[in-house]
Amino acid sequence: MTFPARRPRRLRRTPAMRRLVAETRLHPADFILPVFVREGITEPQPISSMPGVVQHTEQTILDAAEQARDLGLGGVMLFGIPAERDASGSVGLDPDGILNRSIQAVKDRVGEDLLVMSDLCLDEFTDHGHCGVLDELGEVDNDATLELYAQMGVVQAAAGADVVAPSGMMDGQVAVIRQALDEAGYYDVPILAYAAKYASAFYGPFREAVDSQLQGDRRQYQMDAPNRTEALREVEADLAEGADMVMVKPGLAYLDIVSDVAAISDVPVSAYQVSGEYAMIEAAAANGWIDRRAVILEAMTALRRAGAQNVLTYHAAEIAGWLRGG
Ligand code: PBG
Repeated sequence: MTFPARRPRRLRRTPAMRRLVAETRLHPADFILPVFVREGITEPQPISSMPGVVQHTEQTILDAAEQARDLGLGGVMLFGIPAERDASGSVGLDPDGILNRSIQAVKDRVGEDLLVMSDLCLDEFTDHGHCGVLDELGEVDNDATLELYAQMGVVQAAAGADVVAPSGMMDGQVAVIRQALDEAGYYDVPILAYAAKYASAFYGPFREAVDSQLQGDRRQYQMDAPNRTEALREVEADLAEGADMVMVKPGLAYLDIVSDVAAISDVPVSAYQVSGEYAMIEAAAANGWIDRRAVILEAMTALRRAGAQNVLTYHAAEIAGWLRGG
C-alpha cells in the first residue's frame, strides 16, 4: 500500500482554511441590480414569473435605489415600461419619457455613491417589441436603429446616467453611441456593451416584466446558442468601437463564453444572470428542492470564477445583505 504524498484535503479541512485559500470572493460591489419602473401605476406590481421582483412605481424605485446604495451594490440597471408605445419607440428618446425621467430622479436621490446604469434599447418602447425600427420587410433595420440609439445615449447621459448599456445587438451600436456622447460633451460616460448577448429562452420572464409586445423572436440580431468563436468576434468589435466594459448574457448556461471573453478582454467583463435563471432558482426553492441561499451564492461564485468581474442579478440586494452579515 502506498499513501499519498500530496493531500489536497489538508486545505479543505476547516472553514477558516477554506476561506484562506478561496480563489474567488464575492463582495457587494460585484453586483448590479436590474430594476423596472413602470409609468402610470400607484402600487408596485408583482411579476408572477419572477417571485420577489416587482415593477416599481416612480416613487418606489427611488427607495429601491437608495437601499441598493446603502447595501454597497455596484449599481442599478434601469428598465422603463411606458404607458404608450409606437413603431419607433419614441418615448425612449423623450427626455421626459419614463426611463429618462427615472434616471434623473434616481440619480438625484442616490447621489454619487451608486452607479445608475441605463438599458439602451428600444424594445420596451416599440409597439412591436423589437429592439429597433422595422424596414418595409418587417425586419429590424440596423442602420436606422443606430441613429436612434445615438440620440438615446445622449438623452440618457443628459438625464444623469453614469453608464449607458446598449443591449440591442445592432452592428456598430457602440461606435455610434460613443461618437454621439463625445460630440455632446459626455466623453466621461462609459459604455457597458452587451457584447455577447444570445437569443435565449432564458429571457422568458423578462417579457412579462416589461409587458413586452414582441411576437416571434430576436434571432436575426441576437447571437445563436451554438456559436462560441462568434462571441469573440462580437467582443473584439465592441472593444474596437470603444466599449469600456463588455457583458456576456445569459449567465450560467454560458460560462464557456464568460471564460473565453475574460481571456481576451482588457476591459472589465460582466455577466447577466437573467430572468429565467432567477425564476428557476425561485421555483425550485419554493418547492423545497434546493437550498436557496446556497444555490444563489454558488451560481454567483461560478460566474465570478469563470471570469466575470461583476454580475447583474435580480438577487443582488439580497446577496449584498448576506455578504454584509445579514
Ligand atoms: C433588451 C433586454 C432583454 C433583457 C435585458 N435587456 C430582453 C431581450 O433581449 O429579449 C433580458 C433580461 C432578462 O431576461 O433578465 N432590452
